[in-house]
Amino acid sequence: MCGIVGAVAKKDICPVLLEGLQRLEYRGYDSAGFAVIDSDKKLQRIRIKGKVEKLQEQYRLSPLRGTTGIAHTRWATHGKPSIKNAHPHTYKNQLALVHNGIIENHHKLREELISLGFEFNSDTDTEVIVNAISNELNSDTDFLAAIFKVMKLLEGAYALGVLNIDEPGRLIAARKGSPLVIGIGVDQYFVASDVFALLPATQKFIYLEEGDVADIRANKLTIYNKNKKIVDRPIHVSESTVDITDKQGYRHYMMKEIFYQPDAISNTLKGRSTKDQVITEEFGENAKQIFSKTECIKIVACGTSYHAGLIAAFWMEKIANIHCQVEIASEYRYRKSVILDNTLFVTVSQSGETADTLAALRSAGDAGYLSTLAICNVDESSLTRESDLCFLTHAGIEIGVASTKAFTTQLVALFLLVIAVAKEHGLSKKDEAKLVKQLSTLPARVSKVLEHNDAIELMAKDFADKNHALFLGRGSFLSVAMEGALKLKEISYIHAEAYAAGELKHGPLALVDEDMPVVAVAPNNNLLEKLKSNLEEVKARGGKLYIFADEISEVESTNGMFVLNINNVYDYMSPIIHTIPLQLLAYYVAVIKGADIDQPRNLAKSVTVE
Ligand code: M6R
Repeated sequence: MCGIVGAVAKKDICPVLLEGLQRLEYRGYDSAGFAVIDSDKKLQRIRIKGKVEKLQEQYRLSPLRGTTGIAHTRWATHGKPSIKNAHPHTYKNQLALVHNGIIENHHKLREELISLGFEFNSDTDTEVIVNAISNELNSDTDFLAAIFKVMKLLEGAYALGVLNIDEPGRLIAARKGSPLVIGIGVDQYFVASDVFALLPATQKFIYLEEGDVADIRANKLTIYNKNKKIVDRPIHVSESTVDITDKQGYRHYMMKEIFYQPDAISNTLKGRSTKDQVITEEFGENAKQIFSKTECIKIVACGTSYHAGLIAAFWMEKIANIHCQVEIASEYRYRKSVILDNTLFVTVSQSGETADTLAALRSAGDAGYLSTLAICNVDESSLTRESDLCFLTHAGIEIGVASTKAFTTQLVALFLLVIAVAKEHGLSKKDEAKLVKQLSTLPARVSKVLEHNDAIELMAKDFADKNHALFLGRGSFLSVAMEGALKLKEISYIHAEAYAAGELKHGPLALVDEDMPVVAVAPNNNLLEKLKSNLEEVKARGGKLYIFADEISEVESTNGMFVLNINNVYDYMSPIIHTIPLQLLAYYVAVIKGADIDQPRNLAKSVTVE
């Protein structure tokens, strides 16, 4: 998964390309590059290994100028991060191409092209595309027709931007399986992997659809659909503002996003309920009718969003008494699953572009589900556009790769869903009002738990020299522990695993010693006494415990056992409250270790490849 930007204008487009790339860096940051056609109609290119900042430095040292260009920030799939594998890839300074996605049949195409005399200079799957276009151009096909022909050869997913020095004021873009948006300016058009890249340049956008090809010139845009017919696609005006990249005094986006959670939750709740009722129509016009028929729910997601789904399943079965199954999207899409009658298919995703989640949704399309619902943070993402029902979390754009405010707002959205479904299946008005009230307490309670920031920063020092950590929880708090472990490993590179506390003695207890910190999520619920026994088992083996407890939990700090009372009163909102200290712990451990908090190694924010 990578980020693409392109532009055609009547003025130099290099600054727009570079700023766009910077804003797309969340999609990948192991190498970057851009190419322009200069005033002598020559192709000029700069590529670096590393982040966009390095590309900008290189550009400052030897600036390029051009009115037509493409740029790319890479997350390596085929071929390691290096200059030779960085995009744009070229064919003999004649063609330049950027690509986001994966070409699955690249081996076969490469062999065919080599047998025709083509040379390859990189290890990427992408290079076959530029060579294949050149091959088509050699047989007297025009530029646009060559791209259509090559699209037919490609298996897999792609968003492409292509330049041809024989047509200096023209950029051709195409998509299948990877997102691409056109930005509309005055005497200029842009193309990018998402609107965020182009917000400093324009607020007007067209979302390309599957199989679309855009033929872009400074004063003319023509869009063809997959059948090569010219089509009109609607223009959307974005309400997003440009200054969302401001860290507002925080050292990292992740910290800004952790502390923004009370606002993000308020925004997600706003307009979604009255004082005592959930507004079901917020899920879609016919949501009420669909929810009344729903007898079963299947939630499919990846990573953090999957953890949100796991917690929601506890709520759904307890409150709505509706069977709820949660599955990892990359597993779901490749297995046959038995679909029970009247099952609602729910996807959860921050980005709405996660390839596995999207593929799972697409495979659910004609599989016999009652309906599909997307819970997503990005309006007009592929997931929201392709689902029957949609509920947007209003977390605001999340830039840190580690998901924080997206997760807690997903839980808010899922709790609203649970109530909306439950009320179609017998939840009384009185109980609905009680649940809505619990939700409304959340922003203030999250603010309160954030006050433990300093204590958690101190606690983090004990973790910085450790290589492993265990996270324990029971019930829905096992999923909270899983999320805590994911955060820690993702940004601090400490190996962390979560276990159901009751499972410890069935194996993992063997790992416990003084070098293995054990973090326990200990809400004051019906499982607390059981959890306490599990913690004693750890203590007896010399393990050092870090316990996040509720008010009145009667767990006290002792030698080798540090208890942080987070002053929470147990209720359905507790999984959300207990997540916050774990986010802070991971953050501070990573800061102490000097890790790259917002852009952890090997990862990217939006995982648009399988
Ligand atoms: O955009 P999505 O919510 O679909 O992304 C799914 C995962 O890639 C994502 O949650 C990932 O696990 C986070 N970076 C973890 O913090």
